Amino acid sequence: MTEAILLVGGQGTRLRPLTSHTPKPLLPVAGVPFLAHQLARAAAAGVTRIVFATSYLAELFEAEFGDGAGFGLELEYVTEEVALGTGGAIRNAAERLRCAPDEPVLVFNGDILSGLDIAALLSNHRASGADVTLHLKTVADPRAFGLVPTDTSGRVVAFLEKPQTPEEIVTDQINAGCYVFTRSVIDRIPADRVVSVERETFPELLSSNAFVQGVVDDSYWLDLGTPAAFVQGSADLVRGIVASPALPGPTGEALVLPGARVHPSAVLSGGTVVGAGAEIAEGAVIEGSVVLPGAKVAARVSVHASVVGRHAQIGEESSLDAAVVGDGARIGAGNELSPGLRIACGAVLPAHSVRTSASPAPCAEQSVAFSGVPHASSAAH
Ligand code: GDD
Ligand code: MG
Repeated sequence: MTEAILLVGGQGTRLRPLTSHTPKPLLPVAGVPFLAHQLARAAAAGVTRIVFATSYLAELFEAEFGDGAGFGLELEYVTEEVALGTGGAIRNAAERLRCAPDEPVLVFNGDILSGLDIAALLSNHRASGADVTLHLKTVADPRAFGLVPTDTSGRVVAFLEKPQTPEEIVTDQINAGCYVFTRSVIDRIPADRVVSVERETFPELLSSNAFVQGVVDDSYWLDLGTPAAFVQGSADLVRGIVASPALPGPTGEALVLPGARVHPSAVLSGGTVVGAGAEIAEGAVIEGSVVLPGAKVAARVSVHASVVGRHAQIGEESSLDAAVVGDGARIGAGNELSPGLRIACGAVLPAHSVRTSASPAPCAEQSVAFSGVPHASSAAH
């Protein structure tokens, strides 16, 4: 039996308003809840049992995946009344593991789309005798991640979460959000209090000379924590750039889910997904975007690299570029939503009220909550 812990208790702040009612790991990505891809990949790699560490909107996970039989997995759910942080969540979920102290346990962040060879990471951990094995990636800009410098043998020498100063950027290797822990190491994390695995557990293991190793690979990897990454991950799955056993249709330029209606003159490309019950009217052009179930996109609308929320409506001849429209929002005709703009769930945007040329280009992501009178404010993240 190979067991895993899945960390899914975060609030998905950077994906608001999409995560107002749906936890990030359950947002539809390439037509299915994101975790379906992770669960299918874990099962294919020989994982048999997964404990979900939930907190934010906890009850929705079991409602979606039940006992896991659909994936050939045994699933269990543990809920933190108060979020315990990543390390506290791992410790808390470990109460439900069945394996022996010397056996390996996989730990996954719940928002990573990757082509990692999970079975190879496990056998590497077993062969090396490491206390913890971390999957690492090299990235161009590591500032949003945990930095993990290693020596020439792959032994981790430091762990710097979200570096703040240029001096702290000592490597382009980052923590890719998948670990193998020898179970007894998890049992030493303090119980019943908030612990960050990145800021507390890993640095402490290193200062006590534990054997923490890093394994870098060049497989596909994306953290879906931001709107741009969310649409990119979905489009890459649809186009077959990263494989998933959970993809609900053939790969191609677009995935149209059963029950969606797309006018023959509409053009869908770039890995666009049109969710169940959504409608795309004549002459609409949708590129590399996610149209969630029940949304309505009117005639001659153009949508690029954007997300249209569940049951949202986009009026005729509007355009969206790298924008996010929350669930149930109504965008009147002739609006131009520019990069970074987010429209709150249920907001109503009158016709012709936002035009790129009439307003200064936002230098940071902005959120807009309209209730008739527009007002803009900086997003939390
Ligand atoms: N159960 C539980 N409780 N889960 C949590 C909690 C908590 O208190 N806090 C966060 N999580 C879960 C999130 O749901 C997510 O699946 C995972 O832990 C990581 O949280 P993120 O909020 O996505 O963190 P991040 O992306 O900023 O950084 C993490 O991932 C990077 C790789 O994508 C860190 O692990 C970085 O070191 C890493 O580089
Ligand atoms: Mg993340």
